[in-house]
Amino acid sequence: MAKQKMKAVVTGGAGFIGSHIVDALLKKGFAVHIIDNLSGGRKENINKKAVFHNVDIRNLEALKPIMKGAEFVFHFAALPRVQYSIEYPEETSHVNIMGTMNVFIASTEGGVKRVVYSASSSAYGDQSIMPLTEEMKPGPKSPYGLQKYVGELYAKVWSEVYGLSTVSLRYFNVYGPRLNPDGAYALVIGKFLKQRKDGMPITVTGDGEQTRDFTHVSDVVDANLRAATSKKVGKGEVLNIGAGRNFSINKVAELIGGLVEYVPVRMEPHDTLADNSLAREKLGWKPKMTLEKGIGELKKIWKLK
Ligand SMILES: NC(=O)c1ccc[n+]([C@@H]2O[C@H](COP(=O)([O-])OP(=O)(O)OC[C@H]3O[C@@H](n4cnc5c(N)ncnc54)[C@H](O)[C@@H]3O)[C@@H](O)[C@H]2O)c1
Repeated sequence: MAKQKMKAVVTGGAGFIGSHIVDALLKKGFAVHIIDNLSGGRKENINKKAVFHNVDIRNLEALKPIMKGAEFVFHFAALPRVQYSIEYPEETSHVNIMGTMNVFIASTEGGVKRVVYSASSSAYGDQSIMPLTEEMKPGPKSPYGLQKYVGELYAKVWSEVYGLSTVSLRYFNVYGPRLNPDGAYALVIGKFLKQRKDGMPITVTGDGEQTRDFTHVSDVVDANLRAATSKKVGKGEVLNIGAGRNFSINKVAELIGGLVEYVPVRMEPHDTLADNSLAREKLGWKPKMTLEKGIGELKKIWKLK
C-alpha cells in the first residue's frame, strides 16, 4: 500500500509569502491544504497541486476539519498592512487576533504537531538601540504591530496551557517574487518596481535615510521549514527572521533605478535591523540572499534594466 502523504496546512497560502511555502511543501511531498479567503491573495498564486479551501480564519468551525490530522500548520493569513490597520483597527483586530486564536484552537483540537506563526518586526516599534534582539520590550506603534505581537502571546499561552507546539517567527520586510505591487498599501520594493515599470518617479517618503532589514522570501521559507521540525523550539519561542543587514530606502531606490520624488514622511520606525543569532542557534538557519542579488532577480522578472 502506498504510504500516505503527511498533511500540512498553510493559512494565507494564496498570498505572497504563504504561496512560496506551499510550493516548497509540495516539493517535499506533503499533502498541502490552503486556507485563504482571497481578500489579499491572488488566484494565480494558488498552486494547483494543493487543496484550496476558500475559508475565512474568523470562522472557527470551518477551520476544524481542515486542521484535523495535520502534521504542521503554517499561519500566514492576516491583514498585513500598517496603514490599513490604522484606518480599520476593528476589522484587522478580528482577523489578526481572533483569527489567529481560531487557528490555535483548531490546531489543538485537530492534534497538529506544530504551528509556525508568522510574527512581525513591527512588534518592536521604534527602538533606539540596534540591532533588535528578542529580549527587547516590544513597543508596537500601530494596531497591526500590536495585533501581530498579541498573536505571539497567544502562541505562547496555547503552548503552555493547551500543550500545542508553537513557534513565532518575526519577519523583517520580506521581498521577492509575487510581492504585490498594487494598491495604496503596497510594500516598498513592489511599489518601486511598479513605478519604475510604469515610467513614473519612485516615491520615497521623508528624506529616504530610514533603513529596513530586507529579507528575501526564500530565506523566510527556509526558516519556516526548519521551525516546523527543530527540536529546539515548540514552546512559543520568538525568533527574529531578518537578513541582519539594513539598507536605506534611498539605496533601494538607487538599486531599482529611475527618477526619485520625495513625499511627506509617514509615522513609521526609523530603522530596523535584526539580530538573527537566536534563529541561527535554534534553527540552524542563516540568510543566504543579498539585497543586491534579490533586487537584481526581481528586475529581471520585471524586465527592467
Ligand atoms: N511581507 C512582509 O514583509 C511581512 C513582514 C512581517 C510579517 N509578515 C506576516 O507574514 C504573513 C504573510 O504576509 P504576506 O506579505 O504574504 O501578506 P499577503 O497579504 O500576501 O498574504 C496574506 C494572505 O492572507 C489572506 N487572508 C487575509 N485575511 C484572511 C482571512 N480572514 N481568512 C483567510 N485568509 C485571509 C489573504 O487573502 C492573503 O492571501 C502575515 O501574517 C504578515 O503579517 C509579513
